Amino acid sequence: MCLCRMAVWWLLSLTALLLTLHDGKAEEGPVPLVIWHGMGDSCCNPLSMGAVKKMVETQIPGIYVLSLKIGNSLPEDMENSFFLNVNKQVEGVCKELAQNPALKNGYNSMGFSQGGQFLRAVAQRCPSPPMRNLISIGGQHQGVYGFPQCRGEISHICDLIRKFLNLGAYTRNIQDHLVQAEYWHDPMNEEEYRNGSIFLADINQERHVNEIYKKNLQLLEKFVMVKFFNDTMVDPPDTEWFGFYKPGQSKETIRLQDSSLYTEDRLGLKEMEKAGKLVFLGVEGNHLQFSQEWFNKNIIPFLH
Ligand SMILES: *[C@@H]1O[C@H](CO)[C@@H](O)[C@H](O)[C@H]1NC(C)=O
Ligand SMILES: *[C@@H]1O[C@H](CO)[C@@H](O)[C@H](O)[C@H]1NC(C)=O
Repeated sequence: MCLCRMAVWWLLSLTALLLTLHDGKAEEGPVPLVIWHGMGDSCCNPLSMGAVKKMVETQIPGIYVLSLKIGNSLPEDMENSFFLNVNKQVEGVCKELAQNPALKNGYNSMGFSQGGQFLRAVAQRCPSPPMRNLISIGGQHQGVYGFPQCRGEISHICDLIRKFLNLGAYTRNIQDHLVQAEYWHDPMNEEEYRNGSIFLADINQERHVNEIYKKNLQLLEKFVMVKFFNDTMVDPPDTEWFGFYKPGQSKETIRLQDSSLYTEDRLGLKEMEKAGKLVFLGVEGNHLQFSQEWFNKNIIPFLH
């Protein structure tokens, strides 16, 4: 009699527990996604970020996707990708994400090209709301030492950028106003880069180790880096996997795993790799050239 009552009680409790678990999950839904576009692009171009947003929404019904718009209009968003100080951009994005109720339980993020390193800065500087997976698609985590082929609509802007960079990429005035100078990495002048870069040298712990950056980055579940093997837009493409030129020259490159950033573990990347958190994906193709099939197979699994 007594045993029987126990059994009924257990059964009821178990049912209640299962119902709660089920409810909790149903309420949560898919993890939201935040997208940051690349240089010369905007949040909502139907041929670029608009198309990506659609691909994700088709694969993950009900997902909330926020494609970041930096500024008040699409032209402003595009212009800001060249001329609005990245530190200010990151600060603004952090504020926007913190105020968005849809993101309060966390989100995944996906950055295209320079948007990849900008979202990494968000992860390192702004742990709340929590970023779960960071997906960098052609991001330049060790910066760039050239935009060899920058064609189409933005080619005249690229010519202008080259002119500024030649004037002195690390002078204060250019650093404050030119986004691409802020992740310009000159391997022939590592010390000038370390001293003068107001963005990349900071998030890559070049001047000193900020323990908070390290701790925050390690909160990620996965840090996925996609490299385009035949990239003619980014010099060197190795930067998309956090590699770069060996200091003092611009021919030979080294992998992340052979860099002092990794061996001294100034950013926690070595520890993250040991924990299985770093994912290196490669695509045969030029900058940001991938098929929908490739995206669905390789990227969508990280967005669940
Ligand atoms: C970099 O900064 C250090 C310390 O302030 C200074 O001694 C050095 O001359 C600087 N180097 C360059 C190339 O600006
Ligand atoms: C692209 O890069 C891969 C890997 O480096 C190489 O095997 C392939 O031949 C390249 N394709 C083209 C079209 O250059």
